[in-house]
Amino acid sequence: MSELQDKIAKRRTFAIISHPDAGKTTLTEKLLLYGGAIHLAGSVKSRKANRHAVSDWMEIEKQRGISVTSSVLQFDYDGYRVNILDTPGHQDFSEDTYRTLIAADSAVMLIDAAKGVEPQTKKLFWVCHRRKLPIFTFVNKLDRYGRAPMDLMDEIEKVLHINAYPINWPIGTDGHYIGVYDRLKKQVELFDNDSSHGSRILKSTTGDLNDPAIKEAIGEENYKNLLDDIELLDLAGDEFDLARVDAGELTPMFFGSAMTNFGVRPFLEKFLELSPEPQPRKLKDGEILRPDDEDFSAFIFKIQANMNPAHRDRISFMRICSGKFEKGMSVYHVQGGNMIKLAQPQQFMAQERTAVEEAYPGDIIGIFDPGIFTIGDTLCSEKHKIQFEDFPIFPPEIFAKVQPKDSLKRKQFEKGIVQLAQEGAIQIFHQRNVGMESFIVGVVGVLQLEVLEYRLKNEYNAQLILDQLPYTVARWVYAEQADDILNIKGLDNGMLVFDKKERPVVLVSNEWNLNWILERNPKIKFTMVPTEARAI
Ligand code: G4P
Repeated sequence: MSELQDKIAKRRTFAIISHPDAGKTTLTEKLLLYGGAIHLAGSVKSRKANRHAVSDWMEIEKQRGISVTSSVLQFDYDGYRVNILDTPGHQDFSEDTYRTLIAADSAVMLIDAAKGVEPQTKKLFWVCHRRKLPIFTFVNKLDRYGRAPMDLMDEIEKVLHINAYPINWPIGTDGHYIGVYDRLKKQVELFDNDSSHGSRILKSTTGDLNDPAIKEAIGEENYKNLLDDIELLDLAGDEFDLARVDAGELTPMFFGSAMTNFGVRPFLEKFLELSPEPQPRKLKDGEILRPDDEDFSAFIFKIQANMNPAHRDRISFMRICSGKFEKGMSVYHVQGGNMIKLAQPQQFMAQERTAVEEAYPGDIIGIFDPGIFTIGDTLCSEKHKIQFEDFPIFPPEIFAKVQPKDSLKRKQFEKGIVQLAQEGAIQIFHQRNVGMESFIVGVVGVLQLEVLEYRLKNEYNAQLILDQLPYTVARWVYAEQADDILNIKGLDNGMLVFDKKERPVVLVSNEWNLNWILERNPKIKFTMVPTEARAI
């Protein structure tokens, strides 16, 4: 194994996907605790008042006095180098959240045991699933009353259409779980009761299911229930198959409590063992680039302005896809068509921002960006020029009609809208027969509309008239005959628009309206993203 292959084999880069309040911040903090990056975790207090104002990780930073960034966290565990990507939630939810998933090799889906699969989890799951990303499930908050584990497993399978394989099964009764049974190792792990409220690593005892001491510790009733559950899972459930996990068809499932640390370590260890190392990436020409290709390559997946209010900095985050990164190296910026020296690279260890000396596939580096990069840009070696495939388009859910307040500012307005669309901040559509004096703008998160208004005013000197439209669903449409689309039936409460490539898209209020239209137009295919649609 070459040095590069060795570094790759030890790297894990993943994102945690969840609905707000499922416990993502708490779990992240506990992973840092187990990774030794912080020594004392505490329940995050007094965060409610301003929890929507800042990103979750900034909050950890404030509360703990440690410096992290809202984009990526890195720590070491048992010889692994772990990169956790933040997927902004709450009000920050936007295309950024989805794009982060492009930089990940796997995802951890965090589910609140009392609430099950929630809307934001579903959306994020869908993006991962479409990319065939391996997804690991952690059912959280087992320290308090929740739904039955079988029920939750069933819900995941029915609602998300993915099979689940519980690796750890909780032992005990609802609200009083005492340990987990590892179905692969066939081993029981019982957790101590401790008084640290999860601020320290939780001690546990492991043993064989047939060990009399373990049997006694579990108690007769719990033991009998556990055997019944194991039998049922073995009989009725799926077989464990890592190839299906890698293909995103089977989700390994774990149970625990990020708050008390119950089940956290067994999850982390199994996850590191089973999750994929940095994976090959697709190029625009259809070729596949392997991470152990010696030539350096990376793509920009996120650009963050003003990370540090003290200096107005803009940082571009790149995910390394192949080769070795060395500080000060010069790389070819494909979209700019020139060489760039990566002079001040930064990496984000849990403790602090550090200057990077070297980095490997799977690692994320932030570099100060004077405004030359856009999302999706490729960086590579000069002698081996490549380009990664385009970033996917994500289904917008919020729509607004925008036009300039002052018609004399139409030129600035148009320029601003088109540039922001190129940056990937918004998607633009237009209606036929309306001319270019107004656009329909589609975004993923409502904050993006505010950002749009602000940036147009400040950067392009164009004020907007912005009317939010009552639609939440967009579908690209495709039919053999263009007439079938132009005369689409049942669209009384919706709108037919065209994207920038003149591909037709229908906007409707909700799924119910969509089904109404689906039934009335059997010759039309509807897709969430523009895969089959063609210009008409
Ligand atoms: P998020 O980042 O996914 O939005 O969730 P976060 O970690 O902030 O957790 C949301 C709430 O759920 C917090 O409570 C947190 O303490 C609680 N929580 C997280 N994990 C667990 C768990 O395993 N068990 C239990 N019982 N609660 C958990 P809060 O009341 O909003 O804040 P606080 O009063 O605890 O600070």
